[in-house]
Amino acid sequence: MRILILGGDGYLGWPTAMALSRRDFEVMLVDNYLRRDLCRNLNVEPLFPLPNLFERAKIFKDVSGSSLSVRIGDCRDYVFLSKVVKDFQPEALIHFAEQPSAPYSMLNHEAAMLTLSNNLESTLNVAWAVREMAPDCHIIKLGTMGEYGTPDIDIEEGWIEIHHKGRKDRFLFPRQASSLYHTTKIQDTDLLWFYVRTWNLRVTDLMQGPVYGFLTEETSLDDRLLTFFNYDELFGTVLNRFMVQAVAGHPLTVYGSGGQTRGYINLIDSIACLELAAKNPPAPGELRVFNQITETFTVRQLAEMVKKVGRSRGHEVEIKNVENPRVESEEHYYNPVYTGLQELGLKPNHLTDEVMHKAFSKIEEFSQNIRSEVFTMGIKW
Ligand SMILES: NC(=O)c1ccc[n+]([C@@H]2O[C@H](COP(=O)([O-])OP(=O)(O)OC[C@H]3O[C@@H](n4cnc5c(N)ncnc54)[C@H](O)[C@@H]3O)[C@@H](O)[C@H]2O)c1
Repeated sequence: MRILILGGDGYLGWPTAMALSRRDFEVMLVDNYLRRDLCRNLNVEPLFPLPNLFERAKIFKDVSGSSLSVRIGDCRDYVFLSKVVKDFQPEALIHFAEQPSAPYSMLNHEAAMLTLSNNLESTLNVAWAVREMAPDCHIIKLGTMGEYGTPDIDIEEGWIEIHHKGRKDRFLFPRQASSLYHTTKIQDTDLLWFYVRTWNLRVTDLMQGPVYGFLTEETSLDDRLLTFFNYDELFGTVLNRFMVQAVAGHPLTVYGSGGQTRGYINLIDSIACLELAAKNPPAPGELRVFNQITETFTVRQLAEMVKKVGRSRGHEVEIKNVENPRVESEEHYYNPVYTGLQELGLKPNHLTDEVMHKAFSKIEEFSQNIRSEVFTMGIKW
């Protein structure tokens, strides 16, 4: 299957590309280095050094024998994107090419504007390029569980049937995000749902929770194939940050009481979900939604788990409840449904001490790169 991966230089895109290319997919990657540029400009470089995308593809070819084609360009540039789609004729397209950080989207007006325009324009262009150049191509878009927020009712898998004054209809499950970034993801979903209804596109929207980890079969082949891994307050996600904080001897920064519950997923499972989605496309005119998580934790629970594993490795790990810089509920009901991907065949890899020990071990190897001053940068909602 020919698969086009937009955002192929990123935390998820790069390991997904390598994994799929070894499983008989013909893979083309597109990226404009937005993430690298933002990290460089804001002085929050990732933990592992990253060769450029052409170099990474060459190293991967040398160590695995599998090929990846690379195109550098901006998905907001319609002429560029539509030509890539026309020439490559993908059967599936994974759209990762967005600004993915909630704190970055709340940094200042410029960051808000970049997030809004980048995420919506790239999604609009994806819908148009597919419709005009490869109308049967299956669009797999990364959404986020954060679109739903934390409602006081169970979160369904994308859709809800509403009974009203004696009649009923099926709607997208209500969405109410708590950052601008998450709000752009809601708008992405709306855009694609509109074009699915109007143009009969086939779309899968993967409502993913925070992903943790960085070790896959392929990233473990050679340290130069490790993925983009941030631990700073802007771009790091919670569990990844805690593990690096533990290695640095910095207290684990739990926001508020730490009762915020979210659904999490191992990077290996995130890739497996993308493969399952690609191999099982929806029908034309269908927007299929999956909640892409495998288990839920409070932030407090994650901190306790990291503390236990970190201490067993000789790190002095303390947990510190800091003032919550975000506007969010710290204690709330949370009960999402997430059966769809497991029905398609996903076998979850849960968060165990062993999984954490492996990640700790690699972070320890690169501990000289950790800069503790970026753990807290004063970004507030
Ligand atoms: N990482 C997570 O925990 C997580 C959780 C839920 C959803 N997601 C979603 O998954 C997707 C990928 O996330 P990630 O963590 O890999 O982020 P990332 O920033 O590491 O990867 C995104 C990549 O897309 C590129 N990009 C952005 N805008 C582009 C454009 N206009 N043209 C070309 N390339 C562009 C960036 O340079 C980057 O390499 C995002 O849409 C994000 O919202 C991520």
